[in-house]
Amino acid sequence: MTLRVVKSLCRHQCRGSMLIIVGLVLILVLLQFFHVVLLSRLEFQEAEAAQRQEEDLIKHDLKKYDRISKILLEKISHTHILDSSGSYTIIENLSVPNSDITDFHEYGEEINVAFATHTTSNNLHHLIQLSKIWDGPISVSVFTYDDDIVSTLHFVAFLKACHPSVHKVTTFHLIFPLRHPPRNARDILNMDIDCKMRPESLITKHRDNYDFDGLEYPHNLLRNVAKKYSKTSFVLICDIDILPSPNLHGDFISFINRWQAVKSEGFTEPIVFVIPAFETKNISEILSTKSDLIRSWGFGSVRPFYWDVCWKCQKFTDYEGWKHLPEIPLLDIGYYIDWQDPWEPYYIADKNVPDYDERFKQYGFNRISQVCEVHIAGYHFAVLNNAFLIHKGFKIPGKFHSAKEEELDRNRNLFRKFKDEMREKYPSTNRQC
Ligand SMILES: *[C@@H]1O[C@H](CO)[C@@H](O)[C@H](O)[C@H]1NC(C)=O
Ligand SMILES: *[C@@H]1O[C@H](CO)[C@@H](O)[C@H](O)[C@H]1NC(C)=O
Repeated sequence: MTLRVVKSLCRHQCRGSMLIIVGLVLILVLLQFFHVVLLSRLEFQEAEAAQRQEEDLIKHDLKKYDRISKILLEKISHTHILDSSGSYTIIENLSVPNSDITDFHEYGEEINVAFATHTTSNNLHHLIQLSKIWDGPISVSVFTYDDDIVSTLHFVAFLKACHPSVHKVTTFHLIFPLRHPPRNARDILNMDIDCKMRPESLITKHRDNYDFDGLEYPHNLLRNVAKKYSKTSFVLICDIDILPSPNLHGDFISFINRWQAVKSEGFTEPIVFVIPAFETKNISEILSTKSDLIRSWGFGSVRPFYWDVCWKCQKFTDYEGWKHLPEIPLLDIGYYIDWQDPWEPYYIADKNVPDYDERFKQYGFNRISQVCEVHIAGYHFAVLNNAFLIHKGFKIPGKFHSAKEEELDRNRNLFRKFKDEMREKYPSTNRQC
């Protein structure tokens, strides 16, 4: 219609203009075409660049991994110290944090507390979550033997190369039986690393608790080493699959500074600070505050630690009393508890607290023996309000290994002997356990 009007308006003269219009339209179409081609090329180039960047990143990871691996290998090739029994080798400070955030002056202005723990290569992955929730130093003793060293070092190098939160705060120590020294450690130089790997996929050998190819797990030696080399004035000696409440590190430091001021006004008795422990049904459940915890406790998705496994070992914490403490905005002492057998709470203690008895290995009495000595040595047990620990998963009876009963019997006898020794070591006390 329009065309016909145009045609009738300007018969011959307009032929030129028509050609121009058609030409313009053609150019437009061509331009559009080029635009699309260019755009898709650009997209392609972007994708290529991203790919290259990813490859660079992996190369970077590999480089970092290589560098770290070499340092670790160097460390384990030197001579090392033996434990007091002469049957384990200790490599302290196998790897230290990249920033020195852990210095302290004993009871001076810089008080610090470390999370001190122990593991094998099977549970090193817990450090990733732990280091994100605990923002202070972590000191971890890793038990290894024979060619398990390969997975252990691979895992440590992976954590340090790929997980900055772990790298920033963790000091690793290695402990192995003198008769089962590291074997084929250099194999880690040929191992691949990719920071996108699921950490659990690095576990090469799935073992049950306490099943280490016939070797005994020396909990207490590992705990003492983690404590001794923690570089802090206070330690929370805890299990690697237990998470502290968020801010516990910082809140404890503020608390202890306030408390030291009170202490200098006359409270001179030694003291440990008990952190009530709980367990969650869902291993992924994160609890940020005491009120979150109490809510989930009400639903039954959280319960006091060891509820089904050894309730008498925890109940003296007085969970109901803790729940009903007045709400306060700070970390503070809620109440004191007189120790009773067989209470084995977790606590933050200063480093002068008695060591763990290293004769206890495998299952049974390894922690209670230390708590017992802490009590006999005259310590008070102060339960902290607003602080808690969460074990990932409900502990279920019967999920223990087959040799448990045998080990329990052996350690029960050792514990009897230990108690006799305590009477000799602390002759003037009327405390006992
Ligand atoms: C490990 O660290 C501790 C605490 O800082 C220090 O006293 C010790 O000398 C270190 N040992 C080695 C072998 O570096
Ligand atoms: C466990 O908790 C996580 C994190 O809160 C949630 O995403 C998941 O659905 C929960 N799983 C179950 C079985 O409740």
